[in-house]
Amino acid sequence: MQGKAIAHPNIALIKYWGKRDIDRNLPAVGSISITLSELHTRMHVEFDKALATDVLTVNDEPDERMLPRLSVCLDNVAGVDRPRARIASSCNFPIAAGLASSASSFAALTVAAAGAAGKSFDTAHLTSLAGQASGSAARSLLGGFVELENVGEGIACHSLCGADDWPLRVVVAITESGPKPVGSTEAMEISRRTSPFYANWVDQQAQDLDTARAAIANRDFETLAAIAEHNCLKMHSIMWASRPPMVYWNAATMRCLQTVRQLQGQGVGVFFTIDAGPQVKAVCLPEYASEVEAAMRATTGVVDIMTTGLGDGARLERQE
Ligand code: DP6
Repeated sequence: MQGKAIAHPNIALIKYWGKRDIDRNLPAVGSISITLSELHTRMHVEFDKALATDVLTVNDEPDERMLPRLSVCLDNVAGVDRPRARIASSCNFPIAAGLASSASSFAALTVAAAGAAGKSFDTAHLTSLAGQASGSAARSLLGGFVELENVGEGIACHSLCGADDWPLRVVVAITESGPKPVGSTEAMEISRRTSPFYANWVDQQAQDLDTARAAIANRDFETLAAIAEHNCLKMHSIMWASRPPMVYWNAATMRCLQTVRQLQGQGVGVFFTIDAGPQVKAVCLPEYASEVEAAMRATTGVVDIMTTGLGDGARLERQE
């Protein structure tokens, strides 16, 4: 009755922002992401009939904050009449700070819980279970470049290119390690209801997805860079124009963008992307990784740097 799984966060190059069905947590738009290799979340789920409630530790400390969402995910995977569970989560990067910790957490939890419950679900079913818990988590089930599509009444994910087939590097510049002020779930709902740009965003997404998909197929870094930056800035414009406005950036976020622009001016193959937080992810061709890392590290206000390659999808490490 126990399962242990590992999953890596993923960073969207073409973003998911907004839902078409809140109850079933279905995204309004498709998205394309890259799964990272060095950052990870491990989840250990142990069902125990002697427990009265689910219990959660995060990095070995009791932590109730995420428990309600994790419990619902366990119900969806193992059934509502399941035994209560001991859940132990460990994460090697800052949680809830715009680094996609919910993606790796829910992907790992879904796989660990299915293992603990003795269910051998296929990837399509695991995708929909993880996506129900957190939209971006569905993409972390697969490695490399991953596309999430809206298909009929649900979602489907497929790999566009393996991690080793186009081994880009990602330099994550941490500009603030605290939790974000408004979580993505709530923020995207505020955007959907109030942002004057939201409808255009949804309308244009298919075009951005087509451009990025073709760029990945052709290993065309320049085209991918341009569409990823455009899509990212478009998502943040929606947030800025929402009521209340949501500005996740700080001064160092902006300085990081300037650093990326300077590097691009020198011919370096790099682009930025930013999620619902102040951290900047600089995605680059492998030969430029150390130059990009040094420039981001030297940017005023950057408190930490993590460099990673592209990695594999979520997997079960132990099952008993
Ligand atoms: C900005 O997957 O965290 O990172 O489905 O409500 O849990 P929920 O949202 P979540 O949103 C991720 C938003 C994003 C863009 C992306 O990853 O595509």
